[in-house]
Amino acid sequence: MLKIKLQIAEKILCGVHAINPEATLTAAEIADMLEYPPDTTMGDLAFPCFKLSKALRRSPVQIAATIAEGLSGSPIAQAEAVNGYLNIKIDNEYLGEVILPEILNKKENYGAPTLGEGKTVVLDYSSPNVAKPFHIGHLGTTVIGHALKRLHEFAGYKCVGINYLGDWGTQFGKLIVAYKLWGNKEQIEEGGIDKLVELYVRINNTIKGDEEQGIPARPDLADEARAEFRKMEIGDEENIALWKWFVEISLAEYEKTYKQLGIEFDSYKGESFYTDKMPAQVEKLRELGLMKIDDGASIVDLEEYGMPPCLILKRDGSTLYPTRDIAAAVYRKNEYNFDKAIYVTSNQQILHFKQWFKVVELMGYEWHDQLVHIPYGTVSLNGAKLATRTGNVVLLKDLFALAIEKVKGIMEEKNPDLKGRDDVAEAVGVGAIVFYYLTNNRIKDINFNLEDALSFDGNTGPYVQYTYARTCSVLEKVEKSFGGKIVITADEEAALLKTLCQYEEKVLTAIRDYEPSVITRFILDVAVAFNKFYHECSILNAEDKNVRGTRILLTEATKHVLGSAFSLICLKKTERI
Ligand code: ARG
Repeated sequence: MLKIKLQIAEKILCGVHAINPEATLTAAEIADMLEYPPDTTMGDLAFPCFKLSKALRRSPVQIAATIAEGLSGSPIAQAEAVNGYLNIKIDNEYLGEVILPEILNKKENYGAPTLGEGKTVVLDYSSPNVAKPFHIGHLGTTVIGHALKRLHEFAGYKCVGINYLGDWGTQFGKLIVAYKLWGNKEQIEEGGIDKLVELYVRINNTIKGDEEQGIPARPDLADEARAEFRKMEIGDEENIALWKWFVEISLAEYEKTYKQLGIEFDSYKGESFYTDKMPAQVEKLRELGLMKIDDGASIVDLEEYGMPPCLILKRDGSTLYPTRDIAAAVYRKNEYNFDKAIYVTSNQQILHFKQWFKVVELMGYEWHDQLVHIPYGTVSLNGAKLATRTGNVVLLKDLFALAIEKVKGIMEEKNPDLKGRDDVAEAVGVGAIVFYYLTNNRIKDINFNLEDALSFDGNTGPYVQYTYARTCSVLEKVEKSFGGKIVITADEEAALLKTLCQYEEKVLTAIRDYEPSVITRFILDVAVAFNKFYHECSILNAEDKNVRGTRILLTEATKHVLGSAFSLICLKKTERI
């Protein structure tokens, strides 16, 4: 629609100049002011003339009436002045002759903006903490992060997806103690990450003790854990070998989940990678006089900026989470020379990012304003009762497994002979979770309801994947080439094209607001428009050769746009369901 808006804006600009030849407005500015009327019977686009009243020194009603007079010609079918608005209808011929061929020509690349050409974005997302559970709280960072990556790639940015694994820290000391007390090699090789998490939970519980049950706390084990971690820090071979092994096991497990989502990372440089890169930044902070000693710890005072201090070094000299983030940002700037560095985490970390972004600014790094934190709301789950090994959290893989199981059940009933059923069930089950999650504004807290997510007739993943499969099954039945004339004869056909051609705008909005839900909702709009068309217009049985041919092309265009949009939000394309 961007192109259409611009063409209409040029025409409106002529009208503006007819009123005042000196007006300094540009067509692009006018295009930006064009709105979608709430009710399409009023028109496809509306121009609010009150926005020009001041500049043109006329009433909106006068402006609308004057401009409407001269407004005609493709892509405009009709322009009407109503209460200070210009209501504009788009020409069906234009939709059929310009928009449809463009989609068919560009296929899944249709709608790709060029805004990112020559620019680089690094995205830090997912980043689970090794040996701690990978739970549904990580769903947000993982899928929002990946969707933002795909959106930026689509817009021409060079993107680097970084999984900043939490692969260093005292939790490894704890794990080593637990392993030596209760673990053994075979068990872990067999049980994988679940066994590690179990050990981790057990050591934490043991350290804490249980007053009610009369089990005493064991702070000595916490001391032991710190000592084991210290040993790791000075390169103790045995501990380093154990640590590497724990990381490997965890990574293998995460990769299974990433594969289900179709996610790959470009870098797995985790926190441990920055161990030797922190001293230089700490030194710089000291040289700049930014560091203060507070109760033995080194901090950067941020009171002036209305924030608590940023902790750089603990009393024992060990580094902290912000220290590592600062070192990592400097490294990434040097390594990738990014134009933007995006960090996706839960909103619990908003302050952390604000603090260390400020510190980077105070350090004089002029790229501090290229750092962007993208927070999201909390995720909880009710309805489905998932047995968890860890007591109080729901593991992501368990949630996926449950969804896949349920989809298999539904498919057994609905389509028992489907080929490749397991793969389809995985795509639909995982897709249902992702789609449900991404339909909400990212900052909102969400409560999962698995029944709703898996429904085939709500605004769900299964519904849109089913729609995609429907386009495929229509296209499977037809001969490929169509040499006739494109004719748009039904309102549903025009409405479908008007929806499809909003794709680029939606992508731009999603990027501007870091909001994948814009795409999810667009997908729903397309699915609704296509299904209406499918039910109202017979495709394969249309009598007129040109009408039939056009409808087949419309189906193909829908398939391209849906497929492209799916790929932006980690939704797999299902040719069959
Ligand atoms: N590992 C952290 C966590 O699970 C998230 C890391 C986010 N990225 C960052 N650069 N701090 O809480």
